[in-house]
Amino acid sequence: MSLRHLVDFNELTKEEWDGIYTLAADIKKDPAKYSEVCKGKILATLFYEPSTRTMLSFQTAMLRLGGNVIGFDNPANSSVSKGENLKDTITIISCYADIIAMRHPQEGSALAASVFSTRPLINAGDGGHFHPTQTLIDLFTIRQNKETLSGLTVGLCGDLKNGRTVHSLLRALNTLGKNTYYLISTEELALQKHIIEQLRENGNTVYEVTSLEDCIDKLDVLYMTRIQKERFATEEQYKEQSGRYILDKEKLNMSKPDTIVLHPLPRVDEITEEVDYDSRAMYFKQVQNGLYVRMALIVKMLEAREGEETTADIEKYMDLPREQKCKNHVCITKTEKYLPLLTYKTPDGGTACMYCDTKID
Ligand code: CP
Repeated sequence: MSLRHLVDFNELTKEEWDGIYTLAADIKKDPAKYSEVCKGKILATLFYEPSTRTMLSFQTAMLRLGGNVIGFDNPANSSVSKGENLKDTITIISCYADIIAMRHPQEGSALAASVFSTRPLINAGDGGHFHPTQTLIDLFTIRQNKETLSGLTVGLCGDLKNGRTVHSLLRALNTLGKNTYYLISTEELALQKHIIEQLRENGNTVYEVTSLEDCIDKLDVLYMTRIQKERFATEEQYKEQSGRYILDKEKLNMSKPDTIVLHPLPRVDEITEEVDYDSRAMYFKQVQNGLYVRMALIVKMLEAREGEETTADIEKYMDLPREQKCKNHVCITKTEKYLPLLTYKTPDGGTACMYCDTKID
């Protein structure tokens, strides 16, 4: 694996994804075989935002591989609360740990941190932007159940606008297969148009619908999501959107017997408890798969950097300007003013911020 950091799932080649899948499947069969693979290695988990699954499964993964874990689960308990910036925090942690998993509320924070990290840095969620390790888990679970990532009918339901897991999953599936998608949401929480355009340009069929009942019988995979309360400006705006899509047993019984129901979790009220006991409910198995997938990812990323000189990417960017042009108010460039200006050309000839992928012009 040539990847230095994992910011976006799409940085992985098809061969690298296959390698992670195969290793995770083998770990799932016989976890004890891997119990000393990371002996002497340290994982740092830096969580600037709450988490149950991602943080604890990363920590469990490293412990199950025979390694150790350091980190914080609340920046208020670190020197971030005294004003330490992201660059300095990452530089310091690079002196202690062999590999870093970071979650941060600002979009583009993972790429920003990776620029200063001399250790492999894994994006454990950067605001509403990406969540590539959840994508690895989602793809692993779909492939284990359906034996393919192509030719499927996939429904995604709920907060498609703010759900970083939705964005990451669709970008990944778009490179790995051609599918039919039912995007089930209110108009306010619809998926961004540019992502829909990319799916259609790649030969996928996409339907934007507002009713789960009208399409549930067609689905091979139903990906339910939580309405992302923390991304709304006001409680009223959140309340207007919450409770609109609830998967209960009655609705589930309209689906095919082999439909699988995924959810990145946590759930609030969008799946009723009775659904948990249906064989189509795959979300707790998804969580278990997450452990094996993160074990595989840690092994692969450490192997890739074994013996390599530890340099940070900032050395390549020293001559770049530091003034930022991104207009996204939650982009990391809005607060970390020292970041090098990183942009890329979009297919329509425009320019986008490389940190958060927002169009600049
Ligand atoms: N799926 C997921 O990211 O869960 P946590 O927020 O609990 O980590």
